[in-house]
Amino acid sequence: MLTIRSLRVALGRTPVLHGIEATARAGRVTAVIGPNGSGKTTLLRALSGDVPYAGQIALDGCDVARLKPWDLAARRAVLPQAATLSFPFTVAEVVRLGLTAGPHAGRAGGGDDLVARALDEVDLAGFGPRLYQELSGGQQARVQLARVRVQVWDPVMAGRPRWLFLDEPVASLDIAHQIAVMHVLRRFADAGGGVVIVLHDLNLAAIVADVVWLIHEGQILAAGPPAEVIGGAVLATAYGCPVTANLVPSGSATFVLPHSLWRPGTPS
Ligand SMILES: Nc1ncnc2c1ncn2[C@@H]1O[C@H](COP(=O)(O)OP(=O)(O)O)[C@@H](O)[C@H]1O
Ligand SMILES: [Mg+2]
Repeated sequence: MLTIRSLRVALGRTPVLHGIEATARAGRVTAVIGPNGSGKTTLLRALSGDVPYAGQIALDGCDVARLKPWDLAARRAVLPQAATLSFPFTVAEVVRLGLTAGPHAGRAGGGDDLVARALDEVDLAGFGPRLYQELSGGQQARVQLARVRVQVWDPVMAGRPRWLFLDEPVASLDIAHQIAVMHVLRRFADAGGGVVIVLHDLNLAAIVADVVWLIHEGQILAAGPPAEVIGGAVLATAYGCPVTANLVPSGSATFVLPHSLWRPGTPS
């Protein structure tokens, strides 16, 4: 379980997060949504131990500020919003960076099997020898996802869940690969791991998440199941954009349409 109590973060002199209280459970996908500049990335950076904060963040009962770097790396893997690389690494070398941080560093065969399986999982089988810089933006994003996956390959280790913290991992992906990545995350959570993922696509969040946190001006404005948060009036307030939430006709999935672009009755 991930517990966040009275979390405050200031960047420079700017207060960004103002007393976040939240709990995320392993075995579930928790989606973080909210407008640009609301504090989603800052929240993820605090969870990852990348920025100083006031308050408490505990991962499965351990204060993340007190965990040793190797212990933290064994418990959680982080995909930042912008992952840049300036050296001419091959794809396999980039994925292998995840292995050096995790508990598989001494794995027999150097972890080649995990690298290959992680690349296969993101539909990049055979891309290992290619140069990372020569891939498209969407392919690079999938390589980065493979990197964090190998770091916490087994969703549960020694009876303890492991966590993926992902900041907009599918923003540059086509719909088929977005769905494929969501399946990877769903399987990870179903097998007992924890997933906290920042998503801009509300419809994707509605369909994949068990729990949604809606961030607005550095606070959690609403937290709960997608039908409640994405289907609630609070969404339009947070984004300052009128939207209509609906249910798909044959089921319980929520989806949203923006009012101003929606022209009911337009002949198709
Ligand atoms: N290094 C920084 N110094 C000062 N303010 C920052 C810094 N980085 C981000 N901010 C501010 O913090 C707020 C939240 O940013 P961020 O967490 O990146 O938002 P989001 O990911 O929700 O778009 C924004 O107002 C942004 O301008
Ligand atoms: Mg962000």
